[in-house]
Amino acid sequence: MLTLHDITELRAHLTPLRRDGQRIALVPTMGNLHAGHLALIDAARRDADVVVATIFVNPLQFGAGEDFEHYPRTLDTDTQALASHGCDIVFAPSAETLYPQGRDHLTQVSVPQISEGLCGANRPGHFTGVATVVSLLFHLVQPDIAYFGRKDYQQLTVIRKMVADLHFPIDIVGVPTQRAEDGLALSSRNGYLSAAERQRAPALYRILCQVRDALQDGDTPASALREGLANLVAEGFKPDYLELRRAQDLGPVALDTRETILLAAAHLGTTRLIDNLPVSLP
Ligand code: PAJ
Repeated sequence: MLTLHDITELRAHLTPLRRDGQRIALVPTMGNLHAGHLALIDAARRDADVVVATIFVNPLQFGAGEDFEHYPRTLDTDTQALASHGCDIVFAPSAETLYPQGRDHLTQVSVPQISEGLCGANRPGHFTGVATVVSLLFHLVQPDIAYFGRKDYQQLTVIRKMVADLHFPIDIVGVPTQRAEDGLALSSRNGYLSAAERQRAPALYRILCQVRDALQDGDTPASALREGLANLVAEGFKPDYLELRRAQDLGPVALDTRETILLAAAHLGTTRLIDNLPVSLP
């Protein structure tokens, strides 16, 4: 496995592979890899000839007061994990490499509407930061196929819309959420939880399952969501939102909508957790 930090080197390695007709897969990450990220690598390994992972803690997607400075940077253990899952190339650029102009980097990609509610309401500019860096990585790597986790469902929906609107010739694959045995969705931020908080954290998934079951049994969204919110509070969470949206584009659920997604974000102490579940309405 090659670890590259430089754009010229990356292009020099990829251009002949692309010319040879090899199918190139991209898995963008911010590092501090866990089994959730590695499921994306495994899926890419199954589908493509060349697997490229990127590790870049993207300053553009962190708001003031968020954890950019403290975000765990673990390049050595990450590259070992990637190598053992059959990754071919790790691209781990510095911020100066991706944004050589620093504050004068002006070009942004934004996907309004989809970026606005849910996590976007609490994190203004976050999804523009994500769409900007992902489009930059798409231009640099020019993959045939790219992998994103369904755990970050709003992010996945933003990327799918960006790819459709900008005609990127890239297939986007959404990989199912990987969970700990007790149901907690794996996340780099779980490491911020205290031992007591870690014990409580799986209640988020449990409550999402209860709300899903209530909806599938015919409860109205208003009553199922109200009860879900009350249960989150009773379990010690400070909910940001618990919402039911159209699965395809996160639009509002109409009378004839069947395929929906139940999404939640909630604070446990100082840690913000997110999760979601697909719900087929009766
Ligand atoms: P990061 O949080 O490192 O996540 C990288 C990818 O791993 C994302 O597509 C995310 O959805 C996926 N992922 C994380 N936890 C997962 C889990 N438990 N199950 C399945 N997939 C999971 O998301 C980002 O980085 C950044 O925003 C990025 C897209 C790299 C742009 O900077």
